[in-house]
Amino acid sequence: MATELKANMGLAGSGEDLQRWDREHLIHPQYVPGADSRTRIMVKGKGVRLEDADGREYLDATGGLWCAQVGHGRRELAEAAAGQIEQLEFFASFWDFSNEPSVRLAHRLVELAPDNIGGVYFTVGGSESNEIAMMMARMYHLRNGQPERNLILSRKDGYHGITYAARTATGLDSFHGEIGPLPEGYHYLTAPKPYRLENCTDFCVEELERTLAELGADRVAAMIGEPIMGVGGMVVPPDDYWPRIEAVLKEHGILLIFDEVVTAYGRTGTWFGAQQFGVAPDLISTAKGITSGYLPLGAVLVSEQVRDVVLRDPGFVAGFTYTGHPTCCAVALRNLELLEEEDLLENAATIGAYLLERFEELRDLPCVGDVRGKGLMLGIELVKDRETKEPAVELAEELGERFTDEAHVIIRNVEQNLIFSPPLVFTREDCDEVVAAVRAMLEKYGPSA
Ligand SMILES: Cc1ncc(COP(=O)(O)O)c(C=O)c1O
Repeated sequence: MATELKANMGLAGSGEDLQRWDREHLIHPQYVPGADSRTRIMVKGKGVRLEDADGREYLDATGGLWCAQVGHGRRELAEAAAGQIEQLEFFASFWDFSNEPSVRLAHRLVELAPDNIGGVYFTVGGSESNEIAMMMARMYHLRNGQPERNLILSRKDGYHGITYAARTATGLDSFHGEIGPLPEGYHYLTAPKPYRLENCTDFCVEELERTLAELGADRVAAMIGEPIMGVGGMVVPPDDYWPRIEAVLKEHGILLIFDEVVTAYGRTGTWFGAQQFGVAPDLISTAKGITSGYLPLGAVLVSEQVRDVVLRDPGFVAGFTYTGHPTCCAVALRNLELLEEEDLLENAATIGAYLLERFEELRDLPCVGDVRGKGLMLGIELVKDRETKEPAVELAEELGERFTDEAHVIIRNVEQNLIFSPPLVFTREDCDEVVAAVRAMLEKYGPSA
């Protein structure tokens, strides 16, 4: 069987072959074995639309996995990649080697980032960016004569990726099983969820102070958090949350790592989420939107202070083969240009506000507990009962599936939340289509049915 399939590999297979090969050979992330639904094999993307191998069209309200800032199928990015491949497809950035696109991109990122940022380290994705950021935080304190300062604070329901440190910092139990032991030294704070937590900021700040007193503030290296939680349910914290958390951390010499893998590069309406909250993190982890997902690339942006310590002898002894990959960096540079040329930060802010306003109309449905968002990161929290706020997890799960098959709109469900992170080229008409689909699906499958 395997031999016969191998002989047939390549482009010769029919749709049914692809379905079978997919089942037999491809290990999908997060795939539930035994699920009998047909795999949607995507073959084409243009703007905000996708098409699968069966010829069905979908509206992409997730941006791939929160990536496709400039939309799918952009010739400009294909040309940027092709031009760089012809010039120099790849050469290492180790030691004293470098390449033009990575130097230019590092410089551009420093220009766009909050003022304190002075250095950039390139990775291949979001998990690696967080891994590097946490390494740098520990190294910073060690080189400054505080080797015992190595604990990391993160938050329940935070998501930081799947490599060991990133997975451990992730505050979702489902990521902690079966592959232990996990690294030590991680502690989890409460997520700032105004819908579920009264006096949200006060509670979180007091909890942070209490935790520092218990652990010993001089043992804590850094706190890592997403400015707006994505996987955790598009949780937008109160405006004073980050400034007050930052003040406590600063007072104790603890570094702040912003995981901006989703929020960076315009998604919230500014280049970085940090700029929404007026804070200046010591390290900012990014990926995804840096190339609009066209090629794998991540970047850790570090303050001048951290950069200077990390560059001390013997330097930063860690490199991925693909650190500073010239083709990925050339695509990122062109992607940043497109974001500017097409005013897509402004579009994320205004279209995001419009979508949020339209989502507000859904509050007349009994299962809609909360709607929230900033820019083009939005969430609808489903409940069984508005009074008790009991989460409607099963409903959200069912809808996640049915949206794709019935409404042909790709959204995502996490726990009791429906979450949305469309390309930044989304229009009012696209928003109306999403809202109509959500209403139709909630009316059909929600408790009013
Ligand atoms: C906030 C956040 N951090 C980190 C990651 C991990 O990024 P990657 O999947 O590129 O490793 C993700 C992925 O969705 C994310 O949402």
